[in-house]
Amino acid sequence: MESNLYSKIAEHVRDQIRHGLFDAGDKLPSVRTLAKQQQVSIATVNSAYTLLESRGLIESRPKSGYYVLRTTEDKLKQPTQIRSLPKPRPANISQLIMQVQRDAAARNGLTMSSAIPNLDFPIVGLMKKTFTRIARQRGYLGNGYDSPEGLPAFRQQIARRAIDAGVYVSPDEIITTAGCQNAMALCLQVLTKPGDIVAVESPAYYGLLQLIQAYGLRAMEIPSNPQTGMSLEALKLALHEWPVKAVMTVGTFSNPMGTLMPDEHKRELVALLERHDVALVEDDIYGELQFGEVRPKAIKAYDTGGRVLLCSSLSKTVDPQLRLGWVMPGRYLDQITHQKFVNSIASPTLPQLVMTEILSMGAFDKHLRLARETYRQRFERLTELVNEHFPPETRMSKPQGGLVAWLELPKIVDATALYHKAHDHGILFAPGEMFSVSGHYRNCLRLSYAQGWSREREQAIALLGHWVSELARSPSHSAA
Ligand SMILES: Cc1ncc(COP(=O)(O)O)c(C=O)c1O
Repeated sequence: MESNLYSKIAEHVRDQIRHGLFDAGDKLPSVRTLAKQQQVSIATVNSAYTLLESRGLIESRPKSGYYVLRTTEDKLKQPTQIRSLPKPRPANISQLIMQVQRDAAARNGLTMSSAIPNLDFPIVGLMKKTFTRIARQRGYLGNGYDSPEGLPAFRQQIARRAIDAGVYVSPDEIITTAGCQNAMALCLQVLTKPGDIVAVESPAYYGLLQLIQAYGLRAMEIPSNPQTGMSLEALKLALHEWPVKAVMTVGTFSNPMGTLMPDEHKRELVALLERHDVALVEDDIYGELQFGEVRPKAIKAYDTGGRVLLCSSLSKTVDPQLRLGWVMPGRYLDQITHQKFVNSIASPTLPQLVMTEILSMGAFDKHLRLARETYRQRFERLTELVNEHFPPETRMSKPQGGLVAWLELPKIVDATALYHKAHDHGILFAPGEMFSVSGHYRNCLRLSYAQGWSREREQAIALLGHWVSELARSPSHSAA
């Protein structure tokens, strides 16, 4: 495909800049030369250079050609994987999570602690208009409860979109929920009883750990590789040794590392769980936010036995305010439907009506294209800033999509103490200890790069890097 070709050429040039073949101020090969070298058309090279220009990496000078504006050398290594043997633990998540959540909700400033999307995209205006119009015109009020399953037309839109993830389900096999968190809660209510063991990737999204705690379950942390996700070797061991009731993972652009589990891994994971007859709760909330061209397959795409319960929502692609999620529960459809009914009777109809209309328009795919490209650029800029301002021992994950990145700081740095210091300066991030039940990741932090980018944000990242460098140099430190 032509569009693939020009982005490939753009990536090729960007890699050359990153690997030091061209420095800032250097002239790049002429359009004609590059077209000849790469055996592509002049139009393709023009498009590739225009793309790099729009990303602020190069500039065109009239009658002279294209020049490098800034270099993007990336010296950062990927975070390390924990080595402890899987062992079930009561989930005892600290009050810190609630505090970080409240701090984020209280301010609009430099919040890099929440994995929320950029809320300045045109789709937000479109939603406002659609809400107003439908609220005025349609008789959605005065109709009593919606069905427990949710609005059929909305579920049809979700079923259509799932095809891109390799998942073929009928709208009748989808239940709407109050966001993805609620979907996962329903799954755990159906799959487990207090005391049961649930295996989760480590580091894990703290919302999963909170659910495990709330239902009196035990969490078994399975080490996660920053490039391939949950270690299947460690999971095999855990399944062999312990009566694991369910496995939970964010297979596509995990939170906090942004890891994309390779297809082969996804397939193997399903086969492994089939052999052990264990259910998988798949959180696919970031699945449509890839930086590349192709939406990755969901783990559920490999599920033939109905053991994968796919949970997702519109919180990351559009707005968490909607509280509009869903679950594709496979063989647990009846139990999940009943559980939803018991928990909340039905979902509100208005957001479903609004989003049915928006999802059926080309505007939604246009929005996703804009969001993906915006987040890709913001992540690239974050990488540059971390390279520039953090000490060289810092490691950083390399997400291929999603909204967050994970930093491993020098061992000596206490990221929770740093959180309190940064908070006093109006800078918020998510400290690493929130992502484990066994005290790992005290020297790690998660940064969200999705929200409105500004000079102030860049200065905040630089300041964080400066504090980390200071702490890394001091033999024993207190961040106060
Ligand atoms: C991986 C993951 N799952 C679920 C959620 C919560 O989603 P929702 O707002 O749809 O309940 C989040 C929010 O940060 C998340 O990162």
